[in-house]
Amino acid sequence: MNEKEKNLYWHAHSVTADDRWEAYGYRSCVIWFTGLSAAGKSTIANAFCRKLHDTKIQSYVLDGDNVRHGLNKNLGFSPEDRKENIRRISEVAKLFVDAGLIAMTAFISPYREDRNGARNLLKTGEFLEVFVKCPISECENRDPKGIYKKARAGEIKEFTGISAPYEEPETPEIILETDKMSLEECTDKLLNYLIKRDYIHQSKLVEKG
Ligand code: ADX
Repeated sequence: MNEKEKNLYWHAHSVTADDRWEAYGYRSCVIWFTGLSAAGKSTIANAFCRKLHDTKIQSYVLDGDNVRHGLNKNLGFSPEDRKENIRRISEVAKLFVDAGLIAMTAFISPYREDRNGARNLLKTGEFLEVFVKCPISECENRDPKGIYKKARAGEIKEFTGISAPYEEPETPEIILETDKMSLEECTDKLLNYLIKRDYIHQSKLVEKG
């Protein structure tokens, strides 16, 4: 415990994860998307958020570009800043889980150690790592923000996949290959995983429509 943490006391929550499962038929968790820029993290997370909403499941997407406009606007892309970016997001995602939501995070999160830090912050089963896998050549082809072009021209330093590393997950819960799978196939795979592992009760699917 450091000096600043002295004289702080933890308050237990009155509503537990089991209470929520009984009341709402789903368990909150973090779905942690990781992958290169333009691999499809935000697109999949947002499409899946919509799918969950249609079945009356509450979720929220924390997105790299958005969060860097606010909470993390003082951070850049050095290894230290990326570490702090992911540390803060991990804490925020944990709060969302406490609040009973399915939290989705869409950050490159290039370092294994930082992603494991997020995993270790949560209880067993509350953290699902999703590797949004796409070859860099395909990401570069897509280049929706024109940033790969700038990175190749040397206008952006420390760019992931070009002049900064991306450490692929070794044992992610789910892999989505976005150069081979459609968006629908990706969100179906996520939904099936959550149903199979009892994050979402089968009965929730009946509510659709
Ligand atoms: S992370 O590495 O710290 O997890 P994060 O997901 O928050 O990155 O932000 C990535 C987004 O920031 C990219 O999609 C891109 O739009 C933008 N960006 C700007 N500079 C860089 C850079 N040097 N490396 C990667 N992404 C960058």
